[in-house]
Amino acid sequence: MEGVKPAPLAVQQPHSSNADQHWPWWPLLPLYPYGRRRTLVRTLIPEQVWSFEQLQGIFYVAVPIRMTVLRLRQGLLLHAPVPPTEELLGELRALERRYGAVRTIVLPTSSGLEHKLPVPAMARAFPGAEVWVSPQQWSFPLALPLSWLGFPRSRTRVLLADGLPHADELSWHPLGPLDLGIGTFMELACLHKASGTLLVTDALVAIPPAPPPLFEGDPTPLLFHGRDRGDQPLIDTPEQRRRGWWRMVLFASYLQPQSVQVPSFSEVLSQAWQPGLRQPRAYFGLYPFRWSPGWEAEFRALLGPRGEARLQVAPVLERLVFPRCREALLTWLEKLGELGQLRWIVPAHYDAPVACSAGDLLALASAIRQRPWASSEGSWGYLAGIDQTLLRWGVVPSAAGGDPNLRA
Ligand SMILES: [Fe+2]
Repeated sequence: MEGVKPAPLAVQQPHSSNADQHWPWWPLLPLYPYGRRRTLVRTLIPEQVWSFEQLQGIFYVAVPIRMTVLRLRQGLLLHAPVPPTEELLGELRALERRYGAVRTIVLPTSSGLEHKLPVPAMARAFPGAEVWVSPQQWSFPLALPLSWLGFPRSRTRVLLADGLPHADELSWHPLGPLDLGIGTFMELACLHKASGTLLVTDALVAIPPAPPPLFEGDPTPLLFHGRDRGDQPLIDTPEQRRRGWWRMVLFASYLQPQSVQVPSFSEVLSQAWQPGLRQPRAYFGLYPFRWSPGWEAEFRALLGPRGEARLQVAPVLERLVFPRCREALLTWLEKLGELGQLRWIVPAHYDAPVACSAGDLLALASAIRQRPWASSEGSWGYLAGIDQTLLRWGVVPSAAGGDPNLRA
């Protein structure tokens, strides 16, 4: 069950492929994972908790996304589903044969589109399962009912409003609702009491310094970003993989990190179309980035003091979701800090499981309380610009609103 199947690596191929014919449309489309979605299945807690990871991304950035599977007394629970490929369903059927049927599918967020989109297909794959969704579901630009989005009307329930599934084995801890202007942010953390595992969605992450194992099957995205110019070939070395990972994390964290500039179109074009790069997997040599010396320091700031993964609020959430709602986040963290049986945190992105006690969460809350929040400096500048623009246009509320108990 462990591992992904290796794929032939598209590096240093001397001739163009017939995929060149697709120009100019390829660069305009979300490419990763190139229509071949692999699933890495790992046992996180033996006999109790499993991670199903896939690569997901658009344009130049791909990061892993995770579905977590819990074994409960009645069967299996799928938390934050990922797309149910044949490979994934085969792995799930194997778990079902050992531990019982999939009984419950949970969408634990109201705003994370990447977690919402796979739910209807997963629900169709398991017609006997109940589907539970976070309150405050929304869609943009049209507010469509869940059934129009493919959620099965007869077996879809809303967490809190319609009760809570498996309440004897799980406890549920809402963060939000928080008003985002065009919609609502809300996610529910879920504690699996038997293993002491707390499942979160987007609010907390731990970014590892090394590329996740999911890339071992196809490191092309890492090698693409590990270069400095578009005319450099995709060379597979551990160092290039690491550089590529660090840069993709910076894109995912800040959208436009401070250390990257976009060169002129003529410069980008002049470096493109080199032999060996005339293939869609190398974006035909189009590499519109120039990294400044010292860019690594930006990534290291996301790690702990010894260069290790540390639990944190993802920068993009801090600056775009929580900039004026820090108190709501702290209240949630401090509530989670009362969970004496907590041993692990499993987020839907990046590292898992992350060893974590209730005291660790209280320490995190305390650290957040004492440091500057939602900075506009350095790499935060681009996110801050988006926030300020949305504020100016009146798209996002200028002060904390919504649930008065949860707002700053
Ligand atoms: Fe997410």
